[in-house]
Amino acid sequence: MDRIRIVGGNELHGVIPISGAKNAALPLMIASLLTDDTLTLENVPHLADVEQLIRILGNHGADISVNGRRERQGESYARTIHFTSRNIVSTTAPYELVSKMRASFWVIGPLLAREGKARVSLPGGCAIGTRPVDLFIDGLTALGANIEIDGGYVNATAPAGGLVGGRYVFPKISVGATHVLMMAATLANGTTVLGNAAREPEVVDLAKCLNAMGAKITGQGTSTITVEGVPSLSGARHRVLPDRIETGTYAMAVAMTGGDVILEDTDASLLETALEAIRRTGAEISETNSGIRIVRNGAGIKPVDIVTDPFPGFPTDLQAQFMGLMTKSSGVSHITETIFENRFMHVQELARLGAKISLSGQTAKVEGVSRLKGAPVMATDLRASVSLVIAGLAAEGETMVSRVYHLDRGFERLEEKLTRCGAHVERVSD
Ligand code: UD1
Repeated sequence: MDRIRIVGGNELHGVIPISGAKNAALPLMIASLLTDDTLTLENVPHLADVEQLIRILGNHGADISVNGRRERQGESYARTIHFTSRNIVSTTAPYELVSKMRASFWVIGPLLAREGKARVSLPGGCAIGTRPVDLFIDGLTALGANIEIDGGYVNATAPAGGLVGGRYVFPKISVGATHVLMMAATLANGTTVLGNAAREPEVVDLAKCLNAMGAKITGQGTSTITVEGVPSLSGARHRVLPDRIETGTYAMAVAMTGGDVILEDTDASLLETALEAIRRTGAEISETNSGIRIVRNGAGIKPVDIVTDPFPGFPTDLQAQFMGLMTKSSGVSHITETIFENRFMHVQELARLGAKISLSGQTAKVEGVSRLKGAPVMATDLRASVSLVIAGLAAEGETMVSRVYHLDRGFERLEEKLTRCGAHVERVSD
């Protein structure tokens, strides 16, 4: 199994290209099941989760072809992928495929809308809390679906004439349930109004693509989304938006190590709250024509408190990385997690590097230390794993991160992007 070896202490200087967003690419790929025409997605990141979803879509009958787009010193960063689901050959998403990644559960929306039925295994994914599916079930029921849970599977059927438009107010904001209901409602008879919907940029990106396919969606990016059902959708060509989590992660890495880096092909407006928090730690952040420049010279890292919240709040997917940064701050900071109840598994691993963190309920108190020392650590989930990389970049000596398959689910060419900026990071294969 691969590990990542980091020798800390180097500043970061250079340019890091930001990939397409994993969390946008996944629902966009799933949206291809809504049409018998070809959906072409550009700027798709090359990640384990994308490859896994390609296998899942193939199981439903999607024909998928990948064109590597050669760029930047002969390396293929962004890929263009064509998805054609002329016929849906299976409406079952089996446990073996769905258990590896929670987002694959989302195929339930398009399958139910297009075929009138779906049998989808209850999901897996990162172990960061119980992550139930009640909102999906209640929401799809509001569109007329009949849903039963049997033997670990969700069996959903639409009324004889197909799903019907309805009103559903989410009792709790959910990105995934917003994606699924929006997709399902595109082919329903009549108009659907979704209240307390997620406002994440990835929801807006999905709505943009669905509209390009002929859907009639308005209100995306606000808490009320209205979807006027249409009889069918066509193909389209869509470019996946930049990954705001990857952007924030590298910005925090520079805030941690010091240096001067341009994050290319990204957009500051996707992560204002996080960038503001990083600025308050003492880094300078400015917008460039194609992205963001982040500089930290000399000065230390100031302690900053954060609370995670749905968009436009501080993203839970950057919480672990921010904690990594705070381990070397010049004082005490508090980090409060409000989205997932079990998202502090990185705390004990950061402690191995010398971090001083204590937990009280959903809040971590981080007492900054002047030096971290490299150690063997274990990645526990996708975002937690990269917080260990951030800490390792500023630790003295060698940090060896094991279980890097977590990293490979969400960070494209991490070691290469960091190495080009002067970091000492390498992949070690046993
Ligand atoms: C998505 C992101 C993930 C991010 C999360 C929150 C993708 C592929 N994943 O995950 O990276 O951390 O948004 O920004 O885009 N919940 C319920 N019942 C449900 C559904 C969700 O109680 O039926 C709860 C969850 O347990 C969690 C909260 O709602 O506490 C938010 O989860 P949700 O927004 O649904 O996360 P995902 O869409 O799974």
